[in-house]
Amino acid sequence: MQIKIDRNSRTPMYIQIRNQIRAMIFDGRLRPGSLLPPERKLAESLGVNRSTVLTAYRELKADGLVDSHVGRGTMVLSAMSEVSESYGEFDPPLYNQFFSQLSERANDPLLRDLLVVANRKDIISFSAGISAIETDPVEALKGIEEEIVSQPNHEALKHTPTEGFWSLREAIADLMHKRGIGVTPDEILVLSGSQQGIDIAARVFIDPGDVVIVEEPSFFSALQIFSAVGARIIGVPVDDQGMRVDVLEQLLQRYRPKLIYTMPTYQNPSGVSMSLERRRRLLELAYRRKALVIEDDPYSEISFEGARKPYLKELDTYGYVIYLSTFSKILFPGIRIGWMAAPKPIIHQFTMIRQLQDLHANSISQWIVERFLRSGRYDAHVQRIREEYRIRRDIMLDALLEDPVPGLEWIKPTGGYYLWCKLPEGTPNMSLMVNAADRGVSYVPGTAFYLGGKGGQYMRLNYTYPSREDIPKGIERLKEAITATLKRPPHKYPGEEKSIKPIV
Ligand SMILES: Cc1ncc(COP(=O)(O)O)c(C=O)c1O
Repeated sequence: MQIKIDRNSRTPMYIQIRNQIRAMIFDGRLRPGSLLPPERKLAESLGVNRSTVLTAYRELKADGLVDSHVGRGTMVLSAMSEVSESYGEFDPPLYNQFFSQLSERANDPLLRDLLVVANRKDIISFSAGISAIETDPVEALKGIEEEIVSQPNHEALKHTPTEGFWSLREAIADLMHKRGIGVTPDEILVLSGSQQGIDIAARVFIDPGDVVIVEEPSFFSALQIFSAVGARIIGVPVDDQGMRVDVLEQLLQRYRPKLIYTMPTYQNPSGVSMSLERRRRLLELAYRRKALVIEDDPYSEISFEGARKPYLKELDTYGYVIYLSTFSKILFPGIRIGWMAAPKPIIHQFTMIRQLQDLHANSISQWIVERFLRSGRYDAHVQRIREEYRIRRDIMLDALLEDPVPGLEWIKPTGGYYLWCKLPEGTPNMSLMVNAADRGVSYVPGTAFYLGGKGGQYMRLNYTYPSREDIPKGIERLKEAITATLKRPPHKYPGEEKSIKPIV
């Protein structure tokens, strides 16, 4: 009987022994009636305590797989006699051969890597798009446990309708009214984060080969989602007034897309907002060409200066706009609650697809958000994070301006989470990323936000998550990394300017 012990494994040794003997019984290598080695002998041969083997045998006995009698030893039970023969030898599966085309198309580790890097203690992260720890509205969580257990029907522990808790849908409709968008609660679908809304939209609207228009640059997860479903993705450049609607007009005529995906306010990653004129023109073009518009709006409330532009959804008189928003950027990203506001037939179709996914958003999270919205604390909290993030943005801009790196340029954002920078001519982005990580700072390379390996001359810096103290330190490290990368003859990394993989 061959048993291997891995002393570095986190699995206790007695479980390793038990599991291997179980496997031998189930695959027929140990036949009913065969005797297990005496405990002392097995312990000696494996170099473990006798009690370890004893515990393993005791567990096998409790599972009804073996029996032991004084004097006769430990025997595999005949109850296992339905196993007649050993299978013989097989190879493990070649997993890649099983993956669907959709999952292969979605095979991009960027997001996972970003989350890993963002959690590294030694890194000042400008890469994540997450809220400040210092302003987390933790008071929203106080007393929650007691309230939940004292509910007569334990409402927050049960399922909710797929569309979401009615009272949360009402509270979100109220919030939408405050934003200037008139919707009823039944035009709201609560999501497990607004990214889910993009994913459902892709499934509801896109068959392989259908055309989706995106901004260039665009939110990387949206690009990945649309690619995964086999969409033909066409980019429209963004300038300081947002999406170039003159280019859009030509592309609409040529490609007849089903969807236009846009972030009109504080776009991720560029931070720019679309002018009112372009917003109106975009809608007119969508109406003429019969294309639906997804208005993705996580950041509009995080405004620092300037007048708020009307939402596309607010301007839309014919029901072409599907509006997405989220509490990730205002409350906590881990709460995973976002929403969609759309005409009822669209809500219905999204609900059908959503039922196939997670059934509904986490009930406790929905309940916490509803409670927060009804508590009247929302406005004060938004005010607080606006203030804090404006200060952090300014600290980042000041740090960049002090002893500036020649050729490094950026757009000053008037809201949102990000600073979009253009690197000095000829900076190899992948080499820079590695040099930056070596110095303890991370960012997202521009290539993540473009199709086909473009965008290597850009980087996105987040200023909301790193603390006020860390921002200047991180910028210092980044400036050093840029200077060092430009000085050293560029190291050729495989796939430079094509791959967006290595984050560390
Ligand atoms: C433009 C945009 N849309 C959607 C999301 C996803 O947000 P959520 O956490 O609600 O899924 C993000 C998050 O970074 C984003 O920037």
